[in-house]
Amino acid sequence: MIATDPGRSRVKPGDPIVVCEGVSRVYHVGGEDVYAVRDVSCQVAAGKLVALRGRSGSGKTTLLNIISGLDKPSKGRTSILGHETTRMNDRALTDLRRHFIGFIFQSFALLPVLSAFENVELPLRIAGLGARDRTRRTTELLELVGLGRRMHHRPFELSGGEQERVAIARSLANQPGLIVADEPTGELDSVTGLQIMMLFRRIVQEQGVTIIMATHDPTISEIADETLIMSDGRMSHDIPEELQGTGILDAAHLPGTLHGEIALAADAGGLSTRADRNSARDAPRPEDVQLPPLPPRPVRVQDEGEGDSPPSGS
Ligand SMILES: Nc1ncnc2c1ncn2[C@@H]1O[C@H](COP(=O)(O)OP(=O)(O)OP(=O)(O)O)[C@@H](O)[C@H]1O
Ligand SMILES: [Mg+2]
Repeated sequence: MIATDPGRSRVKPGDPIVVCEGVSRVYHVGGEDVYAVRDVSCQVAAGKLVALRGRSGSGKTTLLNIISGLDKPSKGRTSILGHETTRMNDRALTDLRRHFIGFIFQSFALLPVLSAFENVELPLRIAGLGARDRTRRTTELLELVGLGRRMHHRPFELSGGEQERVAIARSLANQPGLIVADEPTGELDSVTGLQIMMLFRRIVQEQGVTIIMATHDPTISEIADETLIMSDGRMSHDIPEELQGTGILDAAHLPGTLHGEIALAADAGGLSTRADRNSARDAPRPEDVQLPPLPPRPVRVQDEGEGDSPPSGS
C-alpha cells in the first residue's frame, strides 16, 4: 500500500518511483495509427527534479498522463513504487492520484470564485482533514510559496506567477510523493518562470518530493537533476541541437532590461549564469557552478507488500 503518512516506512531518495517499460500510446485517426508515445522505457528516481523536454507534439503530455494514470498505454507497463498502474482499476487510480500525486497544469486550473487560501484548502477538505489542521497546513503551504500576504485574494486578483504559486501550493496539499507538472511556466515571463523553477528546486530539496515537469524552457536542464527528451514519441537522454537554444540563464549576461533581474533571480537561487560559468572556466570557483546536493530527506511512502492494491492516505 502506498501511503502519505510521513511517520510510516519510507522510500529512500534514489529509489525508482516511476517506471515505464515499453510504453506506447497509439491513436487511430482517419484510418491511420498516430503514435503519440512510442516504446518508451524510463525510470524516475525518488527525490529528483526531472525535466521532460521536447518540441510541441513530441508526446510529453501523453506520457505524463500515462505516468499519472489519467490515460492507459496501448502497449507496455507503468508502475509507481512497484505497483503496476496499468493493472489498477479506475477506483484505485483515483485513490492513487488523490493521495500520492499532485498535479500542476499549464492553465493553473484554480477555481475562480475561491480565494488562494480556499483553493489550496480544497483538497484537504476532500481528504476529510479537520478545520484546525486544514488552516495550519494551508497557511504553511502559502507561506512556503511566498504568498502569506495574498491568501485571501481570488485568482483574478493575483498575477500569473502568483496564480502559479497557488497551484504549486495546492499540488502539495496532500503531501504527495510525486508532482506531475505540465508546462507550468509556459505562460509566465522569463524571470517569473525562473523563479518558479527555483521554487520547484527548493520544494524537491526541502519537502523530499519527486517532480516530473514538462517544459519547453532550456533553462530547466540547468536546474533539473535529469533531463528526458521526447522526439516524435520516442525518448532519449541526449539534448538535440534544436532544443539546446539559449536558456534564460544564458540571457542573463546579455544587455537588455531583464538581464539584471535574471542575474539577481539566478543568484538568489544559487544558480550560475553564463558569465559565471565563463569566469569559472578561467578561475574555477566550484561553489558558483554547483547546485547544492539533495539532503538525505526521505520521501513519504509506505509499502506494506499488498501487491497492486489501491493506495490509501491513512
Ligand atoms: N486524442 C488524440 N487523438 C489523436 N492524436 C492525439 C491525441 N492526443 C494527442 N495526439 C497526438 O499525439 C502527439 C503528442 O501529443 P502531446 O499532447 O503528448 O504532445 P506534447 O509534447 O505535450 O506537445 P505540446 O508541447 O504542444 O504540449 C501529437 O502529435 C498529437 O497530435
Ligand atoms: Mg503538452
